[in-house]
Amino acid sequence: MAATLHFAFVLALFTGQAIGVNNGLARTPQMGWNNWNALGCDVSESLLLDTSKKLVDSGLRDVGYNYVVLDDCWSDGRDENGFLKDDLKKFPSGMSAVADEIHKEGLLFGMYSSAGEMTCARYAGSLDWEANDAKSFANWGVDYLKYDNCYHMGRFGTPKLSFDRYKVMWDAINGTGRPMLYSLCNWGEDYSHTWGMSIANSWRMSGDIYDSFTRPDDLCSCTDASSPFCVAPGSHCSVLNIINKVAPYVDRGQPGGWNDLDMLEVGNGGMTDEEYKAHFSFWAALKSPLLMGNDLRTLSASSLTILNNPAVIAISQDPDGRSVARIRREMNAAKDKYGVGEIQVWSGSLYGGDQVVILLNAAGEDARISASLEEIFLHDGPEGSAPQNNEEWEVYDLWANRMEESLAQKILDAKAEDLPKLFKDANWYNSTELSYKEGLKKKDARLMGKKVGTIKPGGSLTAKVKRHSMEMYRLKSVGLGGKRKVHAKEEL
Ligand code: GAL
Repeated sequence: MAATLHFAFVLALFTGQAIGVNNGLARTPQMGWNNWNALGCDVSESLLLDTSKKLVDSGLRDVGYNYVVLDDCWSDGRDENGFLKDDLKKFPSGMSAVADEIHKEGLLFGMYSSAGEMTCARYAGSLDWEANDAKSFANWGVDYLKYDNCYHMGRFGTPKLSFDRYKVMWDAINGTGRPMLYSLCNWGEDYSHTWGMSIANSWRMSGDIYDSFTRPDDLCSCTDASSPFCVAPGSHCSVLNIINKVAPYVDRGQPGGWNDLDMLEVGNGGMTDEEYKAHFSFWAALKSPLLMGNDLRTLSASSLTILNNPAVIAISQDPDGRSVARIRREMNAAKDKYGVGEIQVWSGSLYGGDQVVILLNAAGEDARISASLEEIFLHDGPEGSAPQNNEEWEVYDLWANRMEESLAQKILDAKAEDLPKLFKDANWYNSTELSYKEGLKKKDARLMGKKVGTIKPGGSLTAKVKRHSMEMYRLKSVGLGGKRKVHAKEEL
């Protein structure tokens, strides 16, 4: 073990690549599905098995969503030896059999508990039962643990208290010898973005998301998670609230450990198509885990064509693992019905020296948004000193090749035997055959989007952006043809 750690450390120095925890998981943000946002406590064996089948038949597994995560409300107290019992009314075959079925579909199985005496929905929690519960999860064949924060019996209030409480489960999981992705759900409390990466593959940085783009809500009164006055992370946090909260520490995400912006709301009905596109694009570009939060049994064609966009998923799964950063925030644009009028520009580096740019219009009216190369490459040198400022760039729109809804509907309606041909005709991106890393190396056209223009040296990117919407682009340097050595690439 010491030798492995030492090797990883030397490799990190050599490649300049940050490393997170050394369990080998989540080298890119995890992808999958979780029941909570759409279904809450309404969980069952059939839900998990039907969802697993749908993940396969809709092509979503192959595009990358491979974890099926069961949230709260699955247990039925502890037995006389102190082990959690699964609720046999909800899961008649037992968890182990459910895990087997999920694995047979080529998927991985996630479960939930809380670092408290109870879970948030008041089922038995794992605090002080960590060794037992980790053993149960390992015996059942669990691959992922989401670990919540309710009823922690006052063991919080400093980073050290929270860190120690969460580390007990991390050690217990490792003690089982079964690799499990460890996903902290402590809502950003006690600055989890400063210590999460030492013991976990992801850490929530906000109270719970809800299905609204900009609506402020008293239940999510924290607007700055790093403020000591943020005592109640809350439960009604809009997409914009979460984006604004993570902005000061986007750089804490790294291969192996990610800022978790919470599960997706795409498909749950509270936002427009443009808002869902923006929500999904930001979660990808900010390197959040991408866990779908809709009921896949009733997946609509329009949701499928958002969730399956390989050009956007390739941003999430970029091997460099660097989040976009905000380079401009204007707060005085035309107000929407909640009094919100924000325009933002975000930019970040990608594999091979490409750059992703998002122009966000979270205001009440359509707007023309412009960003100069000087701004876009601010992080490579301020005031126009970045070499990229003097290059010509091709601009690729990452949503221009979005799948036609009629084709998505055909896939959703198809019989199993017709699916292979449909996926072939749709030129479906199958990441189980060609990983995103390999696809990017080969410049696979499906990951690049559609060329819509160029930017001359010293020039700007300008677009008309509809209200409550965004435009998202991949920029490619013409001269360098993607060969720039921005970061060491030995690993790639
Ligand atoms: C919350 C958590 C949610 C969900 C819920 C279950 O604390 O943030 O994502 O897991 O508990 O009760």
